[in-house]
Amino acid sequence: MSNFISASSHIGKNVHLGDNVHIGNNVTIYDNVTIGDNVYIWDNVVIGKIPMGVSTNYRELPQTLFEKEPIIIGNNCVIACNAIIYRGANIGDNCLISENSIIREGCVLEGDNIIGGCVLVQYDVRMGRGTRVLNNSVISSKSIIGDNNFISFNFVTVSDKNFGDKGYDNNVHGPIIGNNNHIGPGVTILSNVTIGDNNTIGAAALITKDIGNDGIFFGSPAKLIKNKVCSQ
Ligand SMILES: CC(C)(COP(=O)(O)OP(=O)(O)OC[C@H]1O[C@@H](n2cnc3c(N)ncnc32)[C@H](O)[C@@H]1OP(=O)(O)O)[C@@H](O)C(=O)NCCC(=O)NCCS
Repeated sequence: MSNFISASSHIGKNVHLGDNVHIGNNVTIYDNVTIGDNVYIWDNVVIGKIPMGVSTNYRELPQTLFEKEPIIIGNNCVIACNAIIYRGANIGDNCLISENSIIREGCVLEGDNIIGGCVLVQYDVRMGRGTRVLNNSVISSKSIIGDNNFISFNFVTVSDKNFGDKGYDNNVHGPIIGNNNHIGPGVTILSNVTIGDNNTIGAAALITKDIGNDGIFFGSPAKLIKNKVCSQ
């Protein structure tokens, strides 16, 4: 099938489009972007943006970002209105990036991901297959999130303790989250915390310390309420 590209959109150099790609109004696609088959890009989307301005105040950018860092959008993705995908991001197959969301440089979404509206995914985040994050969430830089997690509204992860007062520190990072966790609305996870698999984290919980597998947690700071797996 043929592609549709609105006349009001700008397509850069060395952009590869698959089959059946729809590009709506006022879309900007910068250079060196590869887009798979059956991708629907709604109005005002920007793909391949170079990071600059306030978002990079505390960070020395890798030089490759200014050269030829490619960005890839997999097959069957939908990129909704006003989303911005930075250079060096890699979005796997079957992903939905909803309205007004931002995916920063170096992020990898492995596929089958849903990113709700107004979500900010900071740089170098890795998100496993099938993980969904609902509206108004903020995922801090270098968070690593596994497969098939369900993460509700207003989820926040933090990647540094000092509010930027001590400048950029390459060693701080967002949490490492395993697989198959259910995370309720309004949960916050502080920096450098590790979360295992199959946990349920209740609404508005604040996770300040590492947690293992198969637990139910809530509170601020969150406590283990019970284990899901009964011992014999
Ligand atoms: C305020 C803050 C920095 C405190 O961190 P801290 O001084 O390192 O605290 P610790 O990690 O040593 O924790 C001390 C205890 O307080 C608890 N605790 C930590 N932060 C807490 C919080 N916000 N609310 C309730 N309890 C908290 C810890 O669980 C720990 O409990 P324990 O004594 O039973 O073991 C941290 O809570 C916080 O808010 N971090 C966010 C940083 C941030 O926003 N950075 C900018 C990102 S853009």
